[in-house]
Amino acid sequence: MTETGRTAVVTGASRGFGRAIATALAGAGAAVTGVARDQAGLDSLRAELGSSFTPVIADAADPVVAGQIIDACRPGLLVLNAGAAPLPRPIQRHTWETFSRNWDVDVRHVFHWTREALLAPLDPGSVVITLSSGAAVRGSPLSGGYAGAKATVRFITAYAASEAERDGLGIRFVSLLPQLTPVTGLGAAAVAAYAAREGIEVGAYLDRTGPALTAEQAAQAVLDLAAGDEAGPGAYLLTAAGLSPAP
Ligand SMILES: NC(=O)c1ccc[n+]([C@@H]2O[C@H](COP(=O)([O-])OP(=O)(O)OC[C@H]3O[C@@H](n4cnc5c(N)ncnc54)[C@H](OP(=O)(O)O)[C@@H]3O)[C@@H](O)[C@H]2O)c1
Repeated sequence: MTETGRTAVVTGASRGFGRAIATALAGAGAAVTGVARDQAGLDSLRAELGSSFTPVIADAADPVVAGQIIDACRPGLLVLNAGAAPLPRPIQRHTWETFSRNWDVDVRHVFHWTREALLAPLDPGSVVITLSSGAAVRGSPLSGGYAGAKATVRFITAYAASEAERDGLGIRFVSLLPQLTPVTGLGAAAVAAYAAREGIEVGAYLDRTGPALTAEQAAQAVLDLAAGDEAGPGAYLLTAAGLSPAP
């Protein structure tokens, strides 16, 4: 754990990848602030992790929340993980409102927090890691605007990296593109929808896709990226086999 990584903020920490990331960071010695809307999820994580974890019950897509938490915590590591579960339906069964859900949550929150990180600015050596998705590369035909939203998360991260470099801020911005995995609520719903679409059981679908990425592997990838080097690529695919530069 680098010195700057000792103070971390993780959005979407109440369950799934975010919970595993907060747990791994606390285990590595960081003071972690976790943001989510579900009080019970955050309270149980606080009970597990003790005083190394500070829960904040809030909407991560609210610009005031982003500004307040960046100002109060000045994180050396900011993990922008919060994301909405898309409604798993083919395109014609989406309305504009269901299609754009991930723009309203995932993209909006990455936009606000990234902007605050640049404007603060966070200290030199700080790292901002955003959760994009393998869907940003491959598409996700049963997830409405999800894949496009996640591609935009990757773009925002790359734009911020270049602004940080132009201004000599020393803040590293990296996006992580995990493969679809059934180990979280969001992933399980998508896997069930794709299996149903093909008329096969979830188990048969998963047999074809190979070993499932675990939440602990996602958390370890975040720790590895946080400790990674300045000159590395700005975006990484993550599968059960590990990290690789994203195409
Ligand atoms: N699982 C996969 O297969 C997969 C693959 C690629 C990328 N991802 C990405 O990884 C990230 C985590 O996904 P996951 O699979 O762990 O999903 P998850 O289990 O559904 O967890 C999502 C987390 O985001 C939080 N969240 C959602 N809206 C929020 C808001 N407005 N404000 C604050 N927190 C909010 C949720 O907390 P509350 O509901 O308590 O607010 C929850 O903690 C997402 O960005 C997702 O798109 C997942």
